[in-house]
Amino acid sequence: MSLILGLETSCDETAAAVVADGRKILSSVVASQVELHRQYGGVFPEMASRQHILDIVPVLEETLLGAAGAEWTALDALAVTSGPGLVGSLLVGVNVAKAIAWATALPLIGVNHLEAHLYANWLFTPAEGTNEEIKPLPAPRFPLICLIVSGGHTDLVLMTGHGQYRVLGRTVDDAAGEAFDKVARLLGLGYPGGPAIQAQAGGGNPQRFDLPRPMLKDGYNFSFSGLKTAVLRIVQKYEGRGRKPFKQRSRMVTSRTAPLLRRLPLADLAASFQAAVVDVLVEKTKRATEQFQVEQVLLAGGVASNTLLRQQMVARLNVPVRYPPPELCTDNAAMVASTGYFKYMTGERHSWDLDVCPSLALTHPS
Ligand code: KG4
Ligand code: ZN
Repeated sequence: MSLILGLETSCDETAAAVVADGRKILSSVVASQVELHRQYGGVFPEMASRQHILDIVPVLEETLLGAAGAEWTALDALAVTSGPGLVGSLLVGVNVAKAIAWATALPLIGVNHLEAHLYANWLFTPAEGTNEEIKPLPAPRFPLICLIVSGGHTDLVLMTGHGQYRVLGRTVDDAAGEAFDKVARLLGLGYPGGPAIQAQAGGGNPQRFDLPRPMLKDGYNFSFSGLKTAVLRIVQKYEGRGRKPFKQRSRMVTSRTAPLLRRLPLADLAASFQAAVVDVLVEKTKRATEQFQVEQVLLAGGVASNTLLRQQMVARLNVPVRYPPPELCTDNAAMVASTGYFKYMTGERHSWDLDVCPSLALTHPS
C-alpha cells in the first residue's frame, strides 16, 4: 500500500489529506475561507495567502491525526498543487511541501490543480465508525471524456490513460463557475454564486426567459460572457433603466440597492440562466462522447456539484456518467494526493526547484 500526503492551497481553501493507493481517503481536512472573502464578493488574493499561512500547520496536524495518527515515516510521498491558481496562495503550499520533503526525505511531486479535480473521480471514503469499506466503484475506464467546470476553468478533455489528455475545447472568456458567480452578484445573491443560484433556481421556471446558448453548434469551445450580458439586459429592463456598462451596473447591485430588484422574477431568471449553462455543457459533452466513442464521462470541479448539471448529464448522455460527491467537487487535497499517487507510480518526482505556475494549463488545445 502506498500512502500519499496531499496539500492544496491554490485559491481560498487550505487543505491536506492522506490517501491510500490513489483511491481510499484515510483523512481529509479542508479549512474554507469563504466567510473571510464573502464581504468582498469574491476571493481577495492577499488575504487568502495570509490565511493559508495561519491555517496550514493546524490543517496538517489534524489530517495526520485523522489518518489513524499516521507518522511521517508511514508516508511514501508528498503531492502539492503547483498551479494553476493565485500565486501567493500556491507559494504557501509549495514551500510548506518543500520544507516537509526536506525534513522527512519524502519524494516531492507537483500536481496540476485541474488534473487533480479530475482525479476526484477515483476517490472513495471508508464507511465511518466501522472497519468495513463502502464497496468502491471500480476505477474509471479509458477512454473517457472529462468536463472540468470550476471557478477558473471550463475544459472538455479526452483522457486516454493516466496523465494522457487531449483538451478538445475550453472557454474563450468566462469560466462556467465565474459566470455563476458574476450573475449571482448581478442579482444580489452573494458569494459563492453557484450554490446561491442553484437554491434560487429551485423554485423558478427555467422557460420564463429565452436566454442564448452561446456557441452551441460551434466546436468544443465555450463562451459564457454573452449569457451574462443577456441576464444584465433583463435586469435593466425590469428596473426600467437605460443601458449601462456591466462594471458600473455590478457595482450598483449591493445589498443596499437590492430592493431595486424587487419586481424582478429572481427565481425564474436564476432558473433560466442555470438551464442555459447546463444545456451548453451537456450538449457539447454529448457530442464529444459520440465523436470519440468513449466508455464514460467524468464531471469535475466546483460546478460539477450542480444538481441540474448532474441530472441532465445522466438523462441525456448514452454512456455512464460519474461525478464526485459535492465535498470532493470543490477544492480539497484528497484529489491532489490521488493525482500524486498515479505520478508516483510512474516515477515522476520534482526537485527543489519546483516552482508555482499561476496559469498552468492541462495541456494545450490540439
Ligand atoms: O473547483 P472550485 O471549488 O474552485 C476552483 O478551482 O475554481 O470551484 C468553485 C466554483 C465557484 O465558481 C462556485 O460558484 C461554483 O464552483 N459552484 C457551483 C456550485 N457549487 C460551487 N456552481 C454551480 N452550482 C453549484 N451547486
Ligand atoms: Zn479548483
